[in-house]
Order: sequence, then C-alpha cells, then structure tokens
Amino acid sequence: MCGIIGYTGHRTVVPILIGALKRMEYRGYDSAGVAVLNGALRIEKDAGKVQNLEQKIRDAQLSGQTGIGHTRWATHGAPTQLNAHPHTDDEFQIALVHNGIIENYSALRQELTKSGHEFKTETDTEVVAALIQEFYQGDFAHAVQKALKLVKGTYGLAILSVNHPGMVIAARMGSPMVIGHGDGENFVASDPTAFLHFTRDVTYLEDGEIAVVTSDKVEYRTLADEHIDKKLEQLTFDIAAIEKGGFSHFMLKEICEQPQTVADSMRGRLLIDEGTVKFGGMAAVMETLNQAKRVLFLGCGTSWHAGLVGEYLMEELAGVPAEVEYASEFRYRSPALEPGTIVFAISQSGETADTLAAIREAKRHGAPVFGICNVVGSSIARETNAGVFLHAGPEIGVASTKAFTSQITVLFMLALQMGRARRVGASRGRELVQELREIPNKISRILATREKIETIAHHYKQCRNFLYLGRGVNFPVALEGALKLKEISYIHAEGYPAAEMKHGPIALIDRDMPVVFIASKDGVYEKVLSNIEEVRARGGRVLVIATEGDQEIANHADEVVYIPSTDPLLTPLLTVIPLQLLSYYMAVQRGCDVDQPRNLAKSVTVE
Ligand code: F6R
Repeated sequence: MCGIIGYTGHRTVVPILIGALKRMEYRGYDSAGVAVLNGALRIEKDAGKVQNLEQKIRDAQLSGQTGIGHTRWATHGAPTQLNAHPHTDDEFQIALVHNGIIENYSALRQELTKSGHEFKTETDTEVVAALIQEFYQGDFAHAVQKALKLVKGTYGLAILSVNHPGMVIAARMGSPMVIGHGDGENFVASDPTAFLHFTRDVTYLEDGEIAVVTSDKVEYRTLADEHIDKKLEQLTFDIAAIEKGGFSHFMLKEICEQPQTVADSMRGRLLIDEGTVKFGGMAAVMETLNQAKRVLFLGCGTSWHAGLVGEYLMEELAGVPAEVEYASEFRYRSPALEPGTIVFAISQSGETADTLAAIREAKRHGAPVFGICNVVGSSIARETNAGVFLHAGPEIGVASTKAFTSQITVLFMLALQMGRARRVGASRGRELVQELREIPNKISRILATREKIETIAHHYKQCRNFLYLGRGVNFPVALEGALKLKEISYIHAEGYPAAEMKHGPIALIDRDMPVVFIASKDGVYEKVLSNIEEVRARGGRVLVIATEGDQEIANHADEVVYIPSTDPLLTPLLTVIPLQLLSYYMAVQRGCDVDQPRNLAKSVTVE
C-alpha cells in the first residue's frame, strides 16, 4: 500500500526520497510526491509512477536537506495529481504524507471549514494538515499531539513545518512507522527497505506515539506528551534480499528462492532423532498448545489459503479440530471462542489491517493468539502472545509466493509437533521430518523444468477463464493457483474442490475454459481422475500437475507437469510451484506488470 519516507540530515534529500520511493514501489501505488524544506516548502507530486515524478523534480530543481515523500494507493479520491500526497494546510505552513484512513475526516472538515479553512482535495488526509496548523502556536510537536487527539482512524504520518527546518515528526496509529538512525542523519519510513542502504539501526513507533526527528536526535512522546525511551534494534536482512539479483522480476526471483526459503523456515527447528520439531518462539506456551482443544487460523488472501492447508494438517496429524476464517469476516462476527481454543494469525507482512483487527477481537474473547509472520518487528508479530517467524526474507513481489511455501512449512511443523504430543508415534514422526528435509531439493527439481512451464503458458495465454481443481490438502492449492493467475495476469480464474465441479461449474466447461487439475498420487487420486474424465467428456482442455512416474495420466491430459513424489501431506509444497510459474509466465507473455499488478498493494493496511 502507500509508502512513506522522511529524511533530515547532511545529505541532499531529493535522491534519498526518490531512491526510497522506488524501493517501496513494490507495495503498490498510483501516484507519488515529495515535499522539501529549504527556507520555504516546495512540493512536487503527480499521478503515475515515481519515474514521472523524478523528471518533474529535476525540472523544478528541488533542493534541501529535509523532506518527506509518499507513494499513494488511492482510498479517498481518484489517483490524481491534486489528491497525491504530500498535502498542506491552506497557508502552506505544514506538509504531510499519510498512510491509513482518517475515519472522521468529514466531520473535521466541516468544523475546519466553519473556522475559515479551505480544502482543495477529495482526500481524508488534508484535514490533518489544517488541524495541525489550527493548533500551532510555536511548538510543532504540541500542535501535532493536539491535532491527533481529535483524529479517529488509522495513520502513519510524516510531517514538516516551514517554521521548523531540519525537523520531521512521525506519528503512528495502526499503520507502521519505523525510524532509521544514522550518523548526523535520521530517517522515518513506513517500511525499512526505504532506508536500508543507509542504516540498519531502527526503532519502531507504537500506536499513539510520535517521534520528533532532527539530524542528531530522535525524541519519542505519547499524544499526552509523556516521554518514552526506546532501544535501538538491528535489521538483519541483506540488501541483496531486496534487489532482483539478475532476475527479470522479483516474483520470479522469489519463486526460485523457495528451495532456500523453505529450508530457512525449518532451519534449527527439526529434532531429527526424535521425529519432532521445536520452535524457540513457542517454548513458553507449549502447555497451552498441548492442551488445545480447537485451533482457529486467521488470515487473508494467500495467508488464508495457507491456513486452509493448515486445517487439513492439524486435523490429520494432531487430531485437533481446526477451522480457518477470513480475518475480515471474523472481526465482525460474535465468535464463540470456547476455552481451549487457540488462534494462529497468519500473515506475511504482519501489517494486514483485517488480520490485526481479528487478533484484537480474538484476544478480547480471551483466546491465546499466536503469530505466523514473516516480517520481524511487524505489528502482528508484536501484538501476538508468541509465535513463529517464517524466515523467508523480504517478499517484494506483490503476488505472494515464497511466503506461502514457508507458511505451509511452518504449519506442517506445528501440526507435527502437536501431533507428536498426541497421536503421532516417533517412527512416523521421523519419517515425516525426513520427507520434509527433502522438500527443498524436490522444489529445485521442479524449478529445473520451468522452461516447459513457460511453453505451456504460451499455449494458454489467450484464454480468458480458467478453472483450478484439487482435493484434500491440494484444494487450497487450487485456490492459490487461481488467485495467482487473477492477480498478475488479470485472467479470470476460480478454484474449487474437484468434486464440487459437477455441482455447478461443469456448466462452463468448453475448449475456451482450460481446467488445471492437481492430481498427485495420494488417497484421492482415483477420484480426481474421474473428475478429469468428466471434463474431457465435455470437450474441456486439461492441464494436470501429477506425480513423477505416473505415465498413465498423460493419456488423460492435454499437458502434464510432474512433481517429485513425497508424503501426501507435503504435496502442497510441491504442487504450488508449477502453478506459481504458470501464472508468472502467462502474465509476462501477456505483457503485464508482474511485480506491481494493477490495483493491488503488497501490504493491505486499510480495511
Ligand atoms: C496474494 C497476496 C495477498 C496477501 C494478503 C494477506 O498474492 O499477496 O492475498 O496474501 O493480502 O497479506 P499478509 O500475508 O501480508 O497478511
């Protein structure tokens, strides 16, 4: 979603702002802008890409050493130049950039209009600048605190004042803000990738806090003006992790990283001889896990699909009833969370607004809530009682790929650990641990066939509709394959449990609607074969993901992609790889912007 950068220090600010905005492009946006302080306030902004903005800034010859920048993903008002951030008060004294939604902006706007303020944009953000100016009496931080006490909703803010050169104020309520600490320079951002090239020393703002940032000092206060101390934390990930490293897209790089990222997710956690798993982040809550009577997984999008796989794994291995809920639905239900229910919130970014709200709702009902997150230091990681990190490294491509396989790896390990404490014997445990350890190599073998998948993509790229079918633990993979295709190639695709096809979708089958089947050799293989025949009998084209050695399947399919054999419960880690590649190649061949698909945002920090 929107991205924020702010800088004050000894360097020329414009290249820092532009570089940071480019590094945050992956989050998804439709306009961009910067404000620079240099005696006066100078603003350049426009609809479209950061590249356009860069040219405008060059033409306008902006210079200065303090500034803020923004990539906007439109919520209130179209993605126009006028609505792009930064926004100012009508006296051009205050400039700010904002992530989130000001829910009471309409009422505030009416009040401020009565007291003489004029508004130019359709955004919810502009009122905040006016409100700060309204309260300003010489103390910038106090004006910000007073203004924000009246604001309802969510915000990450970076704010400049003409009267306070060399100062940036950052504020947070429900939308992440991180401060980067340099030598004679400091940064504020919504995402540390914005300044990773300059510093790895960071502090995170909590809700209701502001940071008053100058080149040599950062002060933290609450809205009630209590002063806060914070400890510096170190970002550990590598700069290479946020660069393409020779790949044409981040998505392809991340698909190809999966042998490594899946291995990283299990690293140090497998107890090979005992046939079980240990998670450092869950050690203190083992008793709660062992006593759990029911497991609830919460997530959105791809993370929700991972939860669906987790549901099968948890019931199969641990015998514990499990359910999965869309976080966005759960937050508005009156959930019956009886004692003994434990909740896992699954999120790559750790910032998804719906998942955060669902966590708070589950906690309000007294349930222990654990996180399965990728981003260390994220809001979800900090708001959950304990949890497991994916260790998949930064995921930059908007379409989630490596996070999904790491989520499944972690869910498998979790189900195995809970299963070993309940009903899985040591020898079966050892077998499963051994199978899991072989997964990275097996993913590499599938990746080695990617040219074949590229060719298959070529055969299908003109189709406008697709059906993805799978059963059991591969039904969620069918959903995930369909989601990937929709997201990046804009082809309509639906995922279904294979047997459901005859209850409706079968009416759609013809030559123009290819069906992708997941037919790995497992307990439901024969059933899926029957479903394939039902499609073929109606003239449908069939692409099958099958297990190596299954030559027979070629007689039932137009195209076959093989995956190595593994334990049926681990097949999602393999079957999803060809589906990721298929969507990637189709999107590339259709000329789509794979890493920044239209309308999508990497981390959805609004409702
Ligand atoms: C799909 C995708 C989204 C996310 C969803 C949840 O490729 O990226 O569907 O999975 O927005 O995001 P996280 O996992 O960050 O909570």
